This record gives sequence, structure tokens and C-alpha cells, in this order.
Amino acid sequence: MRLWFNPASPFARKVRIVARETGQAEKIEETSIMVSPVNPHADLARENPLVKIPALSTPEEGTLYDSAVICEYLDSQHRGTPLFPKAGPERWRALRLQALGDGILEAAVLMRYENAVRPQALQWSDWVNGQFGKVRSGLDALERECAGWGDRFAIGQITAACVLGYLDFRFPDEKWRASHPGLEKWFTKVSQRASVTATVPK
Ligand code: BEZ
Repeated sequence: MRLWFNPASPFARKVRIVARETGQAEKIEETSIMVSPVNPHADLARENPLVKIPALSTPEEGTLYDSAVICEYLDSQHRGTPLFPKAGPERWRALRLQALGDGILEAAVLMRYENAVRPQALQWSDWVNGQFGKVRSGLDALERECAGWGDRFAIGQITAACVLGYLDFRFPDEKWRASHPGLEKWFTKVSQRASVTATVPK
């Protein structure tokens, strides 16, 4: 299988952590590409009409996207403890937590593009502040929930780890640790996992 990714992408990191947590990293050839919202990558465009990473080319299912779909596909291909609970309240809790983390990441990546790519004259500070509001209220929700996670490192927690790693990487001035002590403690612990250390954004 081939994974189209960029080492800075937190959505690609989710997939790379799941690949490692499920023992499938060896089966995946990782192809690092530069992505741009204004200059679509021609090879990726042939695989994913949305021209977005991550995208996973598989032998039976063609090319899969987005990160949630790829992660659930990888989870269906191993025999260990599922990272996506199969049914019942556990499943909805895991999917909602993944959606919370993905929503924070979407807001953070949009802010990153606004600050780093959009010409300064076109930047809209109210819009950036609106995205920042989503990041902060999302973090507050994660802080309220993380005490109940225990040792679980399923799809919701993996997404939360990618959120905190991305904030450290692209928004170091945000200093989320000071106002989120539970998340700080939790992230310090999960940052020692091999899957997390191997995928630190660059
Ligand atoms: C980044 O550089 O922050 C980034 C790169 C690819 C996808 C998302 C974010």
C-alpha cells in the first residue's frame, strides 16, 4: 500500500500512528509530498479528486481518503484490539471524540494556511479569531474528558494526541499546557509511545 502524506500534516499523522499501533507500518510505503491549496499535486490528483492528503492506495479498495476512512480501513486489517469499537455506546463515544479532534485540527490547519500562505492584504483577523475560538473550546472539551481515558489509546485519543502535537508544532505561543493540566499530563505519557515518537511533525 502507498500512503501519500506530508510529515507536517496532523491528519496524515493520525494514519501513521494507526499504522504503527496496528503493526502494519511495514506494509505501507510512505510517499512524502509537498501540498499546496493553490497548486494541486498532479500525481495525487490522479489518486484523490480532492487532491488532499492523507490518501492510501490499497490493493483491493482503490485509493481511500480521508484520515477517518483510512484509519478505520487499517483497523479492519488487523487482529489486535480494535481502535474503532465495533458497536454500541463505546463506538459512538470513540467516533465523537475523533470528530472533536478532527474539528480542532481543521480549524488549526485553516489558521495555519491563513497565516502562512494567504497574502497579508487578504487576511481576515475576525475569521482567524473565529477559528481560534473553535480550537480553544475544543481543547477545553478534551480537558474535561481526558480524566476518563485511562490507558485507552483508540482512535479518539490518537486524534487528540495529533491535536496537541500540531499545536506544539505550529502554534507554540498558544501555551495550551498552562490552562489544560489534565491534557498536559496525558500527553506527556502518550508521547512516549513508539508510534507517537516516530511521527513527530517536521
Ligand atoms: C502544515 O504545514 O502545517 C500542514 C501541511 C500539510 C497539511 C496540513 C498542515
